[in-house]
Amino acid sequence: MPKPSANLSKLPPYLFAELDRKINEAKAKGVDIINLGIGDPDLPTPPAVVEALRKEVLDPATHNYSPYSGTKEYRAVCAQWMKTRFGVTADPDTEVLGLIGSKEGIAHIILAYAQPGDVVICPSPAYPVYNNYTVLCGAEPYTLPLKPEKDFLPDLKSIPADIAKRAKLLFLNYPNNPTGAIANEKFIKEALDFCRQHDILLCHDNAYSEMTFDGYRAPSFLSAPGAKDVCIEFFSLSKMYNMTGWRVGFAVGNKDALKALGLVKSNTDSGAFKAIQRAAATALAQSDHLTAQVNPVYQKRRDIVVAGLQRMGWNFAPGVATFYLWVPVPKGTNSSAFCTLLLDKCGIVTAPGLGYGPAGEGFFRIALTVPEERLKEALSRMEKNGVTARAKAA
Ligand SMILES: Cc1ncc(COP(=O)(O)O)c(C=O)c1O
Repeated sequence: MPKPSANLSKLPPYLFAELDRKINEAKAKGVDIINLGIGDPDLPTPPAVVEALRKEVLDPATHNYSPYSGTKEYRAVCAQWMKTRFGVTADPDTEVLGLIGSKEGIAHIILAYAQPGDVVICPSPAYPVYNNYTVLCGAEPYTLPLKPEKDFLPDLKSIPADIAKRAKLLFLNYPNNPTGAIANEKFIKEALDFCRQHDILLCHDNAYSEMTFDGYRAPSFLSAPGAKDVCIEFFSLSKMYNMTGWRVGFAVGNKDALKALGLVKSNTDSGAFKAIQRAAATALAQSDHLTAQVNPVYQKRRDIVVAGLQRMGWNFAPGVATFYLWVPVPKGTNSSAFCTLLLDKCGIVTAPGLGYGPAGEGFFRIALTVPEERLKEALSRMEKNGVTARAKAA
């Protein structure tokens, strides 16, 4: 057998592997595991969307190959949603591209731009695909730390001039996974100016734009004047409407960047199943109505867990977006040790911060993806077993 590509062996170690092994071991012993580790909604896709798919799948016109860039109808609905939701005008033919989930688009934009010698600026902690796909392309990720004292917004001025010169792409993601942080207008302008100055494409991952609480509405980076000159944005229906398994999203923004992404896609895949695109259009058309049903559920879960953490000594304030809580691990321990302790003593799975890059150390991520009763049960197990802010590593 030939050896897989050398780039494959350069991928960082999979930090959840040891945890996965322990989870399986615990499950085999019959432990009642509470899994707060994965960002996969437990709530079902809204019935109206499921019904749309049921109807559309019966239409044979949906059964053949779909255009690689998404159907004209789907792109028109995406453009209309951008207009209604953010006031952003996008030409559905040149400034919108259908995606088979936003992960696919994020990976392929890296393939479209980054080759050996190029740099991709990747925040840390972050969704691992930005860094890892850069490595797969043989390009060089530059790690841009997100620090709690800066509200998890990066310091763009800290990027060395030679890195900025070689950089092709800058990834940002607000509302942020894993920290739950949000971006303000000043920072968005700063990021766009930085990219304009250094001829970098700003890739804004807006997968959590609709998962917000306490009246907060997340912005599109494309609302800023001139943003389309240097920016594309990725949207995902996965988290917005509990549709992770459906694999549907879209990219919008700079037409040259979308053309390059489209070229990669036309050589890689075909568009998402047409029936799914039609059902996704149904979801986007009633977006506010659908999110108004889901977000209060996550908001209530957030309040329960934050109150519980505070009771256990954590000095932790609730954020206004995403279903993640990014919580500091107790002093004297590290993220892997603390997540192992939570699993061993309480049967609770959480994600160690280090799994999201070097700057993720010192934190663990809780996903609010189980019902209230299970969250209460998790908190009570922690209190009962003394796995609190004052806990020591085993
Ligand atoms: C920040 C971020 N971006 C993108 C994605 C990918 O979403 P999808 O491919 O389901 O659209 C995820 C999924 O967890 C995510 O957390």
